[in-house]
Amino acid sequence: MIEKDFISNPYKKSIENGSFTWSSPSNIALVKYWGKKENQIPENPSISFTLNNCKTTTTVSFSKKQLNTDFSLEVFLDGQLKTDFKPKILTFFNRIETYLPFLKDYHFKIETSNTFPHSSGIASSASGMSALALCLMSIEKELIKSSVIPSAVEESHNEDFFIKKASFLARLGSGSACRSLEGDIVVWGKHDTIEGSSDLFGVKYPYEIHNNFKNYQDTILLVDKGEKQVSSSVGHNLMYGHPFAQKRFKQANKNLSNVVSILKKGSLDAFIALVESEALTLHAMMMTSMPYFILMKPNTLEIINKIWSYREKTNSKLCFTLDAGANVHVLYPESETKTCLEFIQNELVAYCQNGQYICDRIGFGAKQL
Ligand code: PMV
Repeated sequence: MIEKDFISNPYKKSIENGSFTWSSPSNIALVKYWGKKENQIPENPSISFTLNNCKTTTTVSFSKKQLNTDFSLEVFLDGQLKTDFKPKILTFFNRIETYLPFLKDYHFKIETSNTFPHSSGIASSASGMSALALCLMSIEKELIKSSVIPSAVEESHNEDFFIKKASFLARLGSGSACRSLEGDIVVWGKHDTIEGSSDLFGVKYPYEIHNNFKNYQDTILLVDKGEKQVSSSVGHNLMYGHPFAQKRFKQANKNLSNVVSILKKGSLDAFIALVESEALTLHAMMMTSMPYFILMKPNTLEIINKIWSYREKTNSKLCFTLDAGANVHVLYPESETKTCLEFIQNELVAYCQNGQYICDRIGFGAKQL
């Protein structure tokens, strides 16, 4: 599919008002996306676990307005008007208007809430942008429904297209958001060994997954809940002209090929090596950018060292990954839940801000409510 395939035909009729609600999960990348081309096209493919408990629920209520010269919207977080969220959503609307030509016809009330604390350092952009994209897709589906005969709706807007276009739109809001629609493992970015993979949207991982990875656990240790000093978009941009960029993009492609056999064979040791190396490489890219920056905190390193010595002492297959921040995602097989949680509570929680952590696991994707 190409970008043009996501441009809608003019809607023949319109609806006056309505409202849709979607709940969408966050995700944690195993092979990381870091560096992009124009229009949020990734420099390398990435793969992620869809989470189950860290979610954003968004309701979009829309009502027809008189003039269609400008966007009109208001955003609420947990019932509070958030004027500071508006510019990001206006930028998003600007990027997607070509694909959703009804956006200037309505006033939108966007009400959103997260299952995780807003200032937890857990990025809400992936779950937030995908929930918003899904609500907008539901509106478009309704506009198409009212304008053509029902069978044509099914053809042009079947479930597969609906999810692909929602992922395509979410990508334009925040790259990693395009991996937050489906469970349990999602690939984004063209890769020769992954059938159907695309730079334009995320696809559900299409191959066999060994039982070792079923219901994989992720405990998120909240090391630093403050605002990041450097945003992801600034970080992505610093990959332009980065001395190690091309080697890094090559490595990510190779790692993705390796993930396929790891997931099939259930090789936990190879999984650990790949996932931890990816996390540290991501942060190494940050530390070797110009200007350089560090998002890890002293407690991030304390936790990593504790994990390594715990693995040495026990037979545990617990490992860590990081996103663009100081928090640590501790990943482990379901069979180790009890012992790993004990270890986390006894030895790692002390390094979390206010002792806070979130228990999560692989999940099934977004849901309409
Ligand atoms: O989606 P963005 O632009 O916020 O970038 C996210 C990048 C990482 O979380 C660091 C890695 C990834 O693949 O999710």
